[in-house]
Amino acid sequence: MAAPPHDVADLGLARAGIRRVDWAERAMPALRRIRERFAERRPLAGVRIAACMHVTAETANAMRTLRAGGAEIALAASNPLSTQDDTAAALVAEYGVSVYARAGMDQASYDRNLAAVLEHPPHVLLDDGCDLVNIVHRERPELLSGLTGGCEQTTTGVIRLRQMEVEGVLKLPMVAVNDTATKRMFDNRYGTGQSTIDGIMRATNAMLAGRTVVVAGFGYCGRGLAERARGMGARVVVTEVDPVKALDAVMQGYTVLPMAQAAAEGDVLVTVTGNRDVIRAEHIAQLKDGAVLANSGHFDVEIDLTALESLSVEVRREVRPQTDEYVLADGRRIVLLAEGRLLNLGAAEGHPAAVMDTSFSVQALTVAWLVDHPLTSGVLDVPDEIDNEVARLELEALGVGIDHLTPEQESYLHSWRV
Ligand code: ADE
Repeated sequence: MAAPPHDVADLGLARAGIRRVDWAERAMPALRRIRERFAERRPLAGVRIAACMHVTAETANAMRTLRAGGAEIALAASNPLSTQDDTAAALVAEYGVSVYARAGMDQASYDRNLAAVLEHPPHVLLDDGCDLVNIVHRERPELLSGLTGGCEQTTTGVIRLRQMEVEGVLKLPMVAVNDTATKRMFDNRYGTGQSTIDGIMRATNAMLAGRTVVVAGFGYCGRGLAERARGMGARVVVTEVDPVKALDAVMQGYTVLPMAQAAAEGDVLVTVTGNRDVIRAEHIAQLKDGAVLANSGHFDVEIDLTALESLSVEVRREVRPQTDEYVLADGRRIVLLAEGRLLNLGAAEGHPAAVMDTSFSVQALTVAWLVDHPLTSGVLDVPDEIDNEVARLELEALGVGIDHLTPEQESYLHSWRV
């Protein structure tokens, strides 16, 4: 098979990539099952997909599934640090996907890669952070007429889509895959929880037991991280702007503080808010010597990196992989992980395959649903049947049986007469 158009670091890495993708596949039973169904039914025959996602082994298995359904795919990386060069090579050489991604690429390459995937005029967009949708609307509006719609994978992207919808500028049906129960409950919570701890450990080898971990943001991701940090023996402090979420954190036994106080207490501080400037100059001024800063939100805006640079008299790059040390004027050392970018993909391998199985199964079934249903522009929910089907497939793979409603129970639930 001739390699499709691509721009990856080294096709010679394909063998190693295939091994990595196969290893991940073992933990992705639902996606495997969907791939078998897709191979039989070919629901995506002739469908061109442009994707902007993390180029990982888990994504590669999602791409294999869509390919089995008949799709042609062009894939760009949604983050410069998350690309696995061997996986990228395997996708091109073995799985027939046009990949435009290299680990560590700069902003200009990132932009070039997004432009490249749109050169295969797509019918469907798969976005992780809303960048593709953004470019199509702002720079390539002529592509809109050929587009059936798309899926958005992450919280930050859905926030942007909803704002586009409010302003009346969203011209596509975009399905908020992020907002399904399965994605929020498993990927955002257990995935972010585990992979963020994994990133901290790989980058620093720090002991968490007995240390104070500050979790900024108590959404699904923050909740997952707080649970896992507590499980490691850390004292967890939560910061929030939402009173209900803050109260929830209090009820779960966490200390809740404004960042102005939490900053002085944290040994490790992690932002997971989806917002900008969560740790700013006035907070950096409070940090302990040796405090570790990391961000597990989608964009590198949550820690004010400009403030950190300007308050520092020296920057020691790569004191360990993905670990830079900033020295403040009074000698305090502040440790920044993964350049303040998405820590769990920059310093670790992202969420484990077992949890991406759920998210990417929802994604695959949603793409098939999307191309089969004429939809109007706006932010749409994934149909409940898809969420339920994926949960059923996961339970089946785990060998877990559940109860079913009797006809009497069904009718009781649909009646108001007692
Ligand atoms: N987002 C979070 N973890 C991921 C992974 N392992 N692969 C792709 N996207 C991800």
